[in-house]
Amino acid sequence: MKLFVYHTPELTPTDHLPDCAVVIDVLRATTTIATALHAGAEAVQAFDDIEKLMQVSENWSASLRLRAGERGGAKVSGCDMGNSPLESTPEKVKGRRLFLSTTNGTRALQRVEKSQAVVSAALVNTRSCVRYLLEKQPETVWLVGSGWQGSYSLEDTTCAGAIAHSLGRESGQSEEEIIGNDEVIGAVALYTHWQDKLLEMLHQSSHGKRLLGLNAHEDLRYCAQTDTLDVLPIQKEPGVLASPAFKPSNF
Ligand code: MLT
Repeated sequence: MKLFVYHTPELTPTDHLPDCAVVIDVLRATTTIATALHAGAEAVQAFDDIEKLMQVSENWSASLRLRAGERGGAKVSGCDMGNSPLESTPEKVKGRRLFLSTTNGTRALQRVEKSQAVVSAALVNTRSCVRYLLEKQPETVWLVGSGWQGSYSLEDTTCAGAIAHSLGRESGQSEEEIIGNDEVIGAVALYTHWQDKLLEMLHQSSHGKRLLGLNAHEDLRYCAQTDTLDVLPIQKEPGVLASPAFKPSNF
């Protein structure tokens, strides 16, 4: 297994794809996706465009769909909900499909959707992601941060570092074998610096500050938790993520 970290979708190569892409948007899209699937959502379908989301979701019965839209951290008007993971309660999402469009996370998913395998990760489910990669042993893995409108996000690269750090320790491979680019080394260093103060890291990050300005303190607290959800969102068709029952051999 060879790991590559890309800080943003814009920095990912466009002339080839990995065997497995891991899309990361700690604040908050991939935390919300993991939470919704853990709470029993049928699937999460991601869109970079709100108009398209409205069009496609129109074909679903209103009782089986939820439209979730976020721009600039705030809920998009006309949607049932925004992008707070705290909104994805079992009462609300169980058995329904979440149609989701966010500023950066859903765009990152779209960027790598043609990869052989696509999964999403956040701090809340890094362990599930690591277990999947250790079992599947894809030859090339891209850890893709969503960033913010083309700029690097501290929290996404820290999460990429958490995954790379675990894989480095558990894969049995040498550093030379597993490290695909310098960004992996940077991401691991970032994670080891912040690992015991992840909430503080979110408070210092630029998107964390933006969300705090929108009173999303509880969201930051929730997103800073590690390995609280035993769930792995896996793309089953382009843009649609679902979660098989969690048993490593079911992946
Ligand atoms: C994004 O896609 O940029 C984020 O998930 C924004 C957010 O809702 O915090």
